[in-house]
Amino acid sequence: MSRIDDLISTMTLDEKIGQLIMISLGADTIVTGPKAAADPSVADVRAGRCGSVLNLVGRDRIHALQKLAIEETRLGIPLIFGLDVIHGYHTAFPVPLGETAAFRPDVWRESARIAAEEAADDGLHLTFAPMLDLARDPRWGRIIEGPGEDPHVGRMLARAKVEGFQSADLARRDAIAATAKHFVAYGACTAGRDYAAVDISERMLHEAYLPAFEAAVRAGTLAIMPAFIDIAGRPLSGDKGFLTDLVRTKWGWEGIYVSDYDAIGELIAHGVAADFAEAAALALKAGMDIDMQSRAYPEGLKPALERGLIAMDDIDAAVRRVLAAKERLGLFDDPYGRGSVAGGAARPLAARRAAARDAAVVSMVLAKNDGLLPLAKSGGPIALIGHASVKDDEALGSWFALGDMNPITGLADGIRAAFPDRDVIVERGCDLALDGPSPESDDADIARAVEAAKKAEVVLLAIGEPALLTGEAASRTRIRLTGRQEELARAVLATGKPVVLLLGCGRPLTETWLYDAVGAVLITWYLGSEAGAAIGDVVSGARSPSGRLPVSWPRHVGQIPIFYNERPSGRPWAPGEHFTTRWVDSPNTPLWPFGHGLSYTSFEISAPRAPATFRPGESLTVEVDVADVGDRDGATTVFLFLRDRVASTTRPIMELKRFETVDLAVGERRTLRLTLEPEDFFCLGPDMVARAEPGVFDLLVGESADREKLKGIAVTLLDEAAVA
Ligand code: GLC
Repeated sequence: MSRIDDLISTMTLDEKIGQLIMISLGADTIVTGPKAAADPSVADVRAGRCGSVLNLVGRDRIHALQKLAIEETRLGIPLIFGLDVIHGYHTAFPVPLGETAAFRPDVWRESARIAAEEAADDGLHLTFAPMLDLARDPRWGRIIEGPGEDPHVGRMLARAKVEGFQSADLARRDAIAATAKHFVAYGACTAGRDYAAVDISERMLHEAYLPAFEAAVRAGTLAIMPAFIDIAGRPLSGDKGFLTDLVRTKWGWEGIYVSDYDAIGELIAHGVAADFAEAAALALKAGMDIDMQSRAYPEGLKPALERGLIAMDDIDAAVRRVLAAKERLGLFDDPYGRGSVAGGAARPLAARRAAARDAAVVSMVLAKNDGLLPLAKSGGPIALIGHASVKDDEALGSWFALGDMNPITGLADGIRAAFPDRDVIVERGCDLALDGPSPESDDADIARAVEAAKKAEVVLLAIGEPALLTGEAASRTRIRLTGRQEELARAVLATGKPVVLLLGCGRPLTETWLYDAVGAVLITWYLGSEAGAAIGDVVSGARSPSGRLPVSWPRHVGQIPIFYNERPSGRPWAPGEHFTTRWVDSPNTPLWPFGHGLSYTSFEISAPRAPATFRPGESLTVEVDVADVGDRDGATTVFLFLRDRVASTTRPIMELKRFETVDLAVGERRTLRLTLEPEDFFCLGPDMVARAEPGVFDLLVGESADREKLKGIAVTLLDEAAVA
């Protein structure tokens, strides 16, 4: 009999239920959900009423609680300690949407690896990341946490993050378990309103929202967190079709489900359970293993058993999976391993900060540049104006782990360091009011900022969206500047001085007037611990920007949802045509397309080359030449899109299938070889079965999803019958 079967055979019902409960024990510093009815406590651990803990940080506190669980409970089963280590632990990296803009899987993997080293050093075992929710509606605040709008990017990010967090051996003392979240399609919530119901087609679910999670499963994610929402009336936290039939049975996944915060109890609010017993039964039979911070499992599992809603086997199956996860984490053999490595398992701090700085540089997107950037190393004064110039911790964005964060290199310090021979005048201009004019930022602030602009040769205007207005429970109907920032921007622009906009945001902001009025727009997202240094690197030209937009940037909120890979419509837009799909008061196109981003140099990309025909089951290698034809080194991302011209269902006007970011020296020319596998040509037929349908496909390559700038060739997938 295995250690786990042996253990289960000795466990009482209370001890079994305890293993299925995760409680938040760091609530004094970290609150990530609604207030619980009864605050959990260490007594719950001592009584064996929980098997895992979230939100507790600090090596000594974690060690002490683990020691209590092992020495003061009857069976001494170690706890799992989890936390939202979303974009760094002690060293903060760019927020996920920003880091996605790097289009560099090696950077995505490395930042997760470093975060894992730091978190494991504190004794943590599991992170509630990566967040893999596709988002095509920037009214939804959680767009900041995910991979943007494209399924292929989501797949690549999922793989890189799971590999980075977990490494090749999850029992390593510097590895932490990944949690692919929030399964699934949470980003399609009605009107971008967080937690609202989702109603999408099964086809869209399979084509757009599931791929990233299947990639996380293939990469071996230990945990998955179902989303709060329901899809077409099926709340994920209690749905066997999704959790067991699809993921466990069809995909063959053997990990553990950790519910979202209070999500099982919320099945009552969803209206699919009358009480905690029914909610607990629904979730357990769906395949949900751990109840995070709800009362359903603690108060509902026993009555559910007594009422015959569940059987002991259902409980044992979940307990077995949780204990197997603890075994995979090495907790039975080495329960104090994480947090015990002398000097820590993490690499030297300087190396971590250098990695954070590099990730920040390659995440920035230069959306517009009329030649203003880079600024010269010498010259007249630079006016650095805006909240981000004085509020350094804005650079952490949302969902930064609450470990003791390493110091942040602020924007003012970063700019001063990048321009040692130029006078830098810093003015906050106005406060970061969350809504409406802020009483604190009186006219004097703006007047001082205007005076600074008048004295300056050039203005760096560092404004945007308050980090507090991004992330969870932060949906907005107007995705605009807040407080008196617009007033500040207009006053600074009125001085006539050249202005570079440094836009801090976690989602597209529809300030088209501002982007038109300034000379350059550098999207700086929230870049983390080395934000100031990285922005100094790019503004001074020490590094060339290379980030690309992972989301389409709407001109105004009326265009939302907006994404590049739409289906064509029977009346596709055509210039001058009345009866075509369009608005009468706006172009169909975004202000900036998916993949948009400028460099300080320029590149030439050839048309793709590939065999004109290929057979079913064969892969297809596509060659593309890319050259740096500008006057300095730089990096560009080459996108390869596919267009299935005729199929048994309507196909998106183009679908991203590969991307590659290359660093090139001046004059350097390189040939990329991108190999498409047979499944890249599959489409879901009317019967929802994925298959390759013979016919003509367009291969389109370019530096963004701007259809006008893509170069393409046609290739033909031969008909099997014809080939025979
Ligand atoms: C929150 C979030 C989830 C997070 C969890 C634990 O409500 O939805 O992303 O991991 O609770 O903090």
